[in-house]
Amino acid sequence: MSTASGKATAVAHSNIALVKYWGKRNEALILPWQSSLSVTLAPLEVKTTVAFGAQQDEVHINGKEAKGNERARVIALADVLRKEMPVLGPVCVHSGGNFPASAGLASSAAAFAALALALRSAAGLARDVEATSLLARLGSGSACRSVQGGICVWSRGEREDGADSFARQHFAPQHWPGLRMVAVILSGEEKAVKSRDGMRSAVETSPYYSAWVKSAEEDIERALQAIGACDLEQLGALAERNAWRMHATSFAAKPPLSYMRPSTLAMLLALEEERQKGTPVWFTLDAGPNPVLLTEEAHLPKVLAFADRFSPLDIVVCHPGGDARLLESHLF
Ligand code: PMV
Repeated sequence: MSTASGKATAVAHSNIALVKYWGKRNEALILPWQSSLSVTLAPLEVKTTVAFGAQQDEVHINGKEAKGNERARVIALADVLRKEMPVLGPVCVHSGGNFPASAGLASSAAAFAALALALRSAAGLARDVEATSLLARLGSGSACRSVQGGICVWSRGEREDGADSFARQHFAPQHWPGLRMVAVILSGEEKAVKSRDGMRSAVETSPYYSAWVKSAEEDIERALQAIGACDLEQLGALAERNAWRMHATSFAAKPPLSYMRPSTLAMLLALEEERQKGTPVWFTLDAGPNPVLLTEEAHLPKVLAFADRFSPLDIVVCHPGGDARLLESHLF
């Protein structure tokens, strides 16, 4: 709720891309070379309270005071609004997620979507999905796809100022309620190369990069058709191919970069055999070692048994989540 005191709380789900965003054409504005498509991940969520009119800028994440780059990225988003409305003054931000930030479950997507919604509301701005997505994008690209629920497409846009580069919902979560995304945590290590560095290296040094841009852009329409028909086999095969191709850009970069660990590859290669045994299951993989398996609710017992064979640290079963929303109760 937006209040007279300039305080608001928002909650947003994480998301997993089935057509990945991998590479920026403008680093400062976070503008991608290609469009991407994702599904929101319930029950994974981040809750954020923002209050303007504080004594000084303060950022707390998961109960600890944020410092350095982590703090700077949050303050930079508040600055976007304060540039237009200097009267807002210093800001206090508290944020917390219900899942580990380092597990590769796109906590930054949920965090910046919740932050963008809370900031705008605390600043007294009207609810505006497009403007919220544009603001979230400036925090973390993938966050622009967490403002709305279900299946969202982040259109790359054409404009140099980025005003047409935001995400829009194409299917509500109720369109395919039985879809399941099973995050298999094979490694809890912080990744050595952050996605923003990995994608920069792919853009600048991978000879495969331009082929990636073309094929990813073509994947969007095909993915929307498969989702429209709730065709898991088509969607799964497309998501796998898209993930292989994204990772291939990095394998071919200089220096070469692999986000896959031996345990990741062991699981990915075993999937084909599992499908031949009759289990409808496919994978996608972000810039980290932990696969997310795509399946449907009815096949969960078999998929969980399959995942267990790889001694995961944790398994998190997700379903399509709803929109980011404002809450009445605040974190402070
Ligand atoms: O939004 P970022 O900077 O965390 O980049 C996300 C990149 C991938 O997760 C690998 C792909 C995606 O589209 O989410």
